[in-house]
Amino acid sequence: MRAAVCRRYGAPDVVGVEDIDAPSLGAGQVRVGVAAAAVNFPDVLIVADSYQVSAPTPFVPGSEFAGTVTEVAGDVTDVTVGDLVMGTGFVGAFAEEAVVAAQAVRRLPSGVDLHVAAAFGVAHRTAYHVLRSVARVQPGDDVVMLGAGGGVGLAAVQLATSLGAVVTAVASSQEKLDVAAGYGARHLVNHKTGDLRQALKDALPAGADVVVDPVGGDLAEPALRSLHRGGRFVTVGYASGTIPRIPLNLVLLKGITIVGFEFRTWVEHEQEAFARNEEELMGLLADGCAVPHIGATFALDDVVAAMRSVADGAAIGKVVLDVAGSGDVRRQI
Ligand SMILES: NC(=O)c1ccc[n+]([C@@H]2O[C@H](COP(=O)([O-])OP(=O)(O)OC[C@H]3O[C@@H](n4cnc5c(N)ncnc54)[C@H](OP(=O)(O)O)[C@@H]3O)[C@@H](O)[C@H]2O)c1
Repeated sequence: MRAAVCRRYGAPDVVGVEDIDAPSLGAGQVRVGVAAAAVNFPDVLIVADSYQVSAPTPFVPGSEFAGTVTEVAGDVTDVTVGDLVMGTGFVGAFAEEAVVAAQAVRRLPSGVDLHVAAAFGVAHRTAYHVLRSVARVQPGDDVVMLGAGGGVGLAAVQLATSLGAVVTAVASSQEKLDVAAGYGARHLVNHKTGDLRQALKDALPAGADVVVDPVGGDLAEPALRSLHRGGRFVTVGYASGTIPRIPLNLVLLKGITIVGFEFRTWVEHEQEAFARNEEELMGLLADGCAVPHIGATFALDDVVAAMRSVADGAAIGKVVLDVAGSGDVRRQI
């Protein structure tokens, strides 16, 4: 099969597309003919060996995909050959075939496009669990979304709006902010063109209820300062490359709650909330109320360019790899 392969750690250009043997199928597993996969920021970190968990080389990167089930292990009863599914894993998605545990795939709701499904599993689920259960967003809440033009950010703009929140989108370009506005963001702040703290004060004079931060770096502290007394700050990731240090007196003075979200460990500890949120989210996908914004689509052979666009923070929304070569490949970045 054709696959993107990482044989040594480094920048995205260490990844090459090769013909390799398809992975063998073990007990409890299913084989999926991958139609499309999506690139996520953690894929870049895993290839660089800068993620919390290492993938031993050589490996096929990629953590989310959609396609058709082509084989199931004898002990798998709830997935059938021919099912259209979306799935997530740690690695293995940037290939013509992916083998994962049967529990790691879900059938597509009818009518959902395979490229859309491929781009749904990481960003929308992260955003929904964060908003619904960690930040506990309520209708009318003012939510400040950092990285609002990125994968997690745009998903969160869309989902917070659907939960009835008023979203302030923060991003580095007018183009990203215009897309965020299209998904419901009410206030738009370009952190490159002015002082973020002042801009958030102007947008939200009474202060924000919630900040969601997948970026970190220099943006975290001014965003935290925009919270009113009792506000909630959720730290989700550090796409800027810098883990911020927050002066604790800011937390003390305003009674702010800072809480972290990490998908795998959160799921382990919050299985009831996880199951409820997943059902709600699949309903939103089926109804067309939660749809990832696909900013660019690349052929599998262009996996390096696709990963670079995510690594550089240039991507708007999701970046999809058209693995089966079935779709419209648009190099918009
Ligand atoms: N905790 C979890 O379970 C979980 C789950 C999924 C993702 N994450 C993390 O969340 C973060 C965002 O993921 P994502 O998929 O939304 O990423 P993304 O689509 O690449 O968006 C990241 C955003 O970060 C900003 N950014 C600032 N400096 C950057 C840099 N040097 N390189 C890249 N981006 C930069 C950009 O926004 P500006 O317009 O402001 O520059 C960009 O839009 C990542 O750190 C990822 O690892 C965590």
